[in-house]
Amino acid sequence: MPTPTPRRPSVRPKAKARRAEGWHGWDDYAPFYDWENARTLGRRDVPFWRNLAVHAGGSVLELGCGTGRISLPLGKAGVHLVGIDRSDAMLERARARVRRAKLAGQVALVRGDIRHLPFADAAVPARRSKDSTRRRTKGASGFSMVMAPYGVLQSLLKERDLAATLEAVHGVLQPGGMFGLELVADLPSWEEYRKRVSLDGWRGRKGGTRVTLVETVRQDRARQRTIFDQTFTETHGRERRVHEFSLTFRTLSVPQMTRRLEKAGFEVTALLGDYRGGPWDPRAEVWVVLARKC
Ligand SMILES: C[S@@+](CC[C@H](N)C(=O)[O-])C[C@H]1O[C@@H](n2cnc3c(N)ncnc32)[C@H](O)[C@@H]1O
Repeated sequence: MPTPTPRRPSVRPKAKARRAEGWHGWDDYAPFYDWENARTLGRRDVPFWRNLAVHAGGSVLELGCGTGRISLPLGKAGVHLVGIDRSDAMLERARARVRRAKLAGQVALVRGDIRHLPFADAAVPARRSKDSTRRRTKGASGFSMVMAPYGVLQSLLKERDLAATLEAVHGVLQPGGMFGLELVADLPSWEEYRKRVSLDGWRGRKGGTRVTLVETVRQDRARQRTIFDQTFTETHGRERRVHEFSLTFRTLSVPQMTRRLEKAGFEVTALLGDYRGGPWDPRAEVWVVLARKC
């Protein structure tokens, strides 16, 4: 019998750690996003954005529209809204909602990156356009309002990404058009913790699928980043599925954002500390900035 040649231990180079980007993680998060948000922010900010959008008097662009948590109520209120998002999985949920609500003529969803808005400067996409990152319509009059709710701009981790986005927003807004954005207020001071059970509940009726979120939060203050490592576990009878992913956010303060908006050609018209229009201060629970294209 031939002696078997001893196998060399396979020495594989370690997989290169993927550099974190703000758009990573959202595809994995998509199945849990609405479930989690129904238990946290809910719809508290929706009337605020709806009121601004209804009075904008023209088409509204929502940056990072996600699953349509805000886009749908705005469409129902008669706003012609274009939502753009990079995550197909998040958008798929928004698309299903638009179909169910028969709002296809009112809400257009576009897959794309907010750093390079796929609309010609001061132009809006055709109302009946299919999802596309390339479609452009020339000669229209631009968006009357652009909004970035719920910390969307905090997904831009690099200074140049934020600058590119502000320039792109400035380009697609009508002269005098409004840019409204919200920063997640407590992100810079979020306490760090490891493997904490943050949420535990049922999806669907009780006895259906049990969902548990175990979360680790890390602060990288030198790089102005807050990182959420999330593990969602779904248990249905004996079946158990584990989904692990990370979301990284840049922690920007309101004064820092104000300076960047002014540099990009906006006039900051209001800093709000709640959704009823109260003034902002550094301890406010809500950080909303309203600006106008100069
Ligand atoms: C916090 S969620 C907000 C979703 C929705 N606006 C809401 O309020 O529920 C952030 C969204 O921004 C999207 N996003 C992150 N970076 C992006 C980028 N560079 N371009 C387009 N979308 C991006 C993510 O895919 C995600 O859907």
